[in-house]
Amino acid sequence: MTKILMVCLGNICRSPLAEGILKSKLPSDFFIVDSAGTASYHVGSTPDKRSIAVAKKYGLDISHLRGRQFTVDDFDNFDYIYVMDESNYQNVIKLARNEDDKNKVEMILNLVYPNQNYDVPDPYYGGDQGFENVYKMLDEACSIIAENLNQNG
Ligand code: 4NP
Repeated sequence: MTKILMVCLGNICRSPLAEGILKSKLPSDFFIVDSAGTASYHVGSTPDKRSIAVAKKYGLDISHLRGRQFTVDDFDNFDYIYVMDESNYQNVIKLARNEDDKNKVEMILNLVYPNQNYDVPDPYYGGDQGFENVYKMLDEACSIIAENLNQNG
């Protein structure tokens, strides 16, 4: 099994969408996809209703997901850790114990725009269009992740 973790701040807007999108692009008998937040505010919560709505619009159901906080054990439990923005990156890297841990962490939009360190903007305080934009960015990045993984495992 290859295991991929999507990480944002709250684990209710961006990373549950990324989880749902990537899951839809990979065969579940070979890949595990999960998500987590660096903060604990929304542990146990369903995704934001706007993330649920935009996922539904594109044929994905993410309403069963529940928020959880990123922990240091995630470095052992996952092969790839994709973060949504620079602050998520810093928060995850702070918990890394060694270079192997650090090497698992990548800004997700670097798959689309290598080495640019672009953020997936936090849509929480904005309107529905922000969620639509986030969906499109994540769909593009996840297509590349899935293509790479389906070739290389
Ligand atoms: P997310 O968005 O990191 O994409 O899940 C946020 C959700 C909640 C909060 C911040 C960002 N919050 O401050 O509660």
